[in-house]
Amino acid sequence: MPLPAQVHVSPHPLVKHKLSVLRDKSTEHRAFRELVRELALLLCYEATQDLPLTARTVETPMGLANGHKTEEAIGLVPILRAGLGLVDGVMELLPQVQVWHIGLYRDEKTLRPVQYYNKLPTEPTVSVCLVLDPMLATGGSAVATVDILKKWGVKRIKYLGLIAAPEGIEAFTSAHPDVPVHVAAVDERLNEIGFIMPGLGDAGDRQFGT
Ligand code: PRP
Repeated sequence: MPLPAQVHVSPHPLVKHKLSVLRDKSTEHRAFRELVRELALLLCYEATQDLPLTARTVETPMGLANGHKTEEAIGLVPILRAGLGLVDGVMELLPQVQVWHIGLYRDEKTLRPVQYYNKLPTEPTVSVCLVLDPMLATGGSAVATVDILKKWGVKRIKYLGLIAAPEGIEAFTSAHPDVPVHVAAVDERLNEIGFIMPGLGDAGDRQFGT
C-alpha cells in the first residue's frame, strides 16, 4: 500500500547501511548507541529541509556576503526512554534547541501508553517541535505525545524515528494528518506482543543494556 504523503522514508544510502547494522542482533550496546546518534543526525538533516530562513549580511575576510539564519525556536521532545538516544545526534545539527522530555511507557497488556513524566510549562516556549522516538509500533506513544504538544500550543510538529510499523503509520496519520513523519524504514508488521517485525528488538533495552 502506498504511504501517505506526510510519511518520509529516507532514501539515503548511509541511512540504509547504518540501519542494517543497527538491526543486526550481534551489534553491541556501544555501537548501537553510536548508530542511533548518527541516524538521528542524518534524519534530522532531511526533516529540517523546510526550516524558514531570514536574511543576514555576513562580513567575510574579503567583504560582505548575503547570508541566512534560522530563527525558529525549536524544541526536541524525546519520548523516554528510547527517544533519549536520538537527542545527541539532532543537537549536533541544532545546538540551540530546547529539550522537553515526555515520559511514556507502553502497558505490556493493553499496549496503551502510560504517562509518567511531563514538566512542560503552561505556555509554549517553542514554535516547532521534533518528537523523537526510535520505534513507531502501534503508534500510541507518538499519538499521545503529539496530543500533549498540540494542547501545549505548539504550532508545528514533526515526528522523527527510526522504524515504523504499517499499523503505527495508519494510527498516527489518522490521528495527526498534519504532522510529517520522518523514518529510516517502514517494516512489515507488528507481532502479537506489539513488536515491529523484523524491526531491531527493543530499542530501549539495546541502547541501555537492560
Ligand atoms: C517503546 C518505544 C516507543 C513505544 C512504541 O518504548 O520506544 O516509545 O514503545 O510503541 P507504540 O508505538 O506501540 O506506542 P517502551 O514503552 O518500550 O519504553 P522504553 O522507551 O522505556 O523502553
